[in-house]
Amino acid sequence: MPSVFLSASNLTDQLAQSQTVIEARIAEILAGQKQQNQLEDAMRYGALAGGKRLRPFLILAAANLFSDNVENALDTAVALELIHCSSLIHDDLPAMDDDDLRRGQPTCHIQFDEATAILVGDAFLSLAFEVMSSDQKLSTETRLRLIHGLTVASGRYGMIGGQMDDIEGEKKSLTLDQIISLQQKKTGALFEYACEAGAIIGGANEQQQLALKNYAKHFGLAFQITDDILDVTGTEAEVGKRLNKDQDAGKETFISLIGLEAAQKAALDTINEAKQEVAIFGDKANMLIDLVDLLNNRKS
Ligand code: IPE
Ligand code: IPE
Ligand code: MG
Ligand code: MG
Ligand code: MG
Repeated sequence: MPSVFLSASNLTDQLAQSQTVIEARIAEILAGQKQQNQLEDAMRYGALAGGKRLRPFLILAAANLFSDNVENALDTAVALELIHCSSLIHDDLPAMDDDDLRRGQPTCHIQFDEATAILVGDAFLSLAFEVMSSDQKLSTETRLRLIHGLTVASGRYGMIGGQMDDIEGEKKSLTLDQIISLQQKKTGALFEYACEAGAIIGGANEQQQLALKNYAKHFGLAFQITDDILDVTGTEAEVGKRLNKDQDAGKETFISLIGLEAAQKAALDTINEAKQEVAIFGDKANMLIDLVDLLNNRKS
């Protein structure tokens, strides 16, 4: 496996470096599979056709606070991205958001069929833990901690629980606190895990772990608020998804509750809070600071 350095001097290039290494590792893992069937084709489609790769980047960037070579974090980063891909493929299914466009391409169930899309999502969930449990670069104890964290973040207390809250929210009105809690589960939990994993791999002390956790909490919330803003203000070509889906589905979001302008302000405030949390790392936090800044006025 190659050494993994985010050695570029600016965030755009660091993101590109990370994307290259993440996608190469995903391709390597998927190429290692022996069967030639539709599941394999659909898995490659679901994991390799586009995507910003922000969650794996966040693991590498958090681990980078503690070490220049972040090769140790690569497979955990890939596993997290696989879980995220699984969540998107299932999120797009007719029984959920019923979307036909994702990452600028037909969604998995449109390109293949519903049964295949369900199985691809399931297969990614299992594959994530296969990859993590066989990661020889980490001690057995570290692997177990990381795996446990990801089971919690992706499961009923985290992403999947939040997806359920999101669907139930279509039928009732929610308070702002309920929306924040829903978003922290469905979207925030995987971002929080990214920082938690980077901290574990890097050997962070308690104060550093807490700072990263709080940064991630704000990052995740800002990310989902800006996702909801893009649903209203974005262009389909840039976002790569159908627009105005939330309102059409009767989903409660920051925007439905407080309006677009106040949602934009809430995103900015949340971004600034995230930046303050990582001040303890000094200049080393520049990558994390630039990353969360990127959420402001993002186009995709
Ligand atoms: C979209 O996530 C789903 C949400 C949690 C809002 P991303 O915007 O990170 O999707 P990709 O991976 O870049 O396609
Ligand atoms: C999806 O939220 C969150 C997860 C996939 C866990 P959305 O439904 O808002 O995501 P998009 O807008 O379809 O990407
Ligand atoms: Mg959804
Ligand atoms: Mg959706
Ligand atoms: Mg959305």
